[in-house]
Amino acid sequence: MNTLRPLTLDVNHAEHTLCVAPDTPLLYILRNDLACNGPKYGCGLGQCGACTVLVDGLAARACVLPVKAVLGRAVTTLEGLGTPQRPDPVQQAFIDEQAAQCGYCLNGMIMTAKALLADNPAPSEDEIREALRFNLCRCGTHVEIVRAVQRAALLQRRNEAGAQP
Ligand code: FES
Ligand code: FES
Repeated sequence: MNTLRPLTLDVNHAEHTLCVAPDTPLLYILRNDLACNGPKYGCGLGQCGACTVLVDGLAARACVLPVKAVLGRAVTTLEGLGTPQRPDPVQQAFIDEQAAQCGYCLNGMIMTAKALLADNPAPSEDEIREALRFNLCRCGTHVEIVRAVQRAALLQRRNEAGAQP
């Protein structure tokens, strides 16, 4: 039964209680109820990556993930990574490399890169290409995107080294 009921979600480090149908795709809740418009609707079939979010730190496709699947888990969207004043290193690197053309795919590229770098702080170019192989970019900015992830890895490592006592 997919009737409305109150569910509490942890999104971007805050709890939100909403009255929703548990089988509703997470993407709809994020965009329509929580005003998180970083994740995009591309294919709606789990195939393009435009809707990617992090669930407990792992990249997940919010268009095919029922909201009930993230109960008790931490959801992070693009909005939860950084702010315009203090962007996350991955966001900063994409700006520095001017990796956007239309920008529609970038949410998925950035969130997938974030998950990759959490697991592998110094990926090779091949590892970056492998991690992003199911994220589609129709504008063909793949070269800039790979460079942005390489730069992000460097920035993140420098930040972490600087943060050490
Ligand atoms: S919109 Fe979710 S994978 Fe395409
Ligand atoms: S920049 Fe347009 S789809 Fe990737």
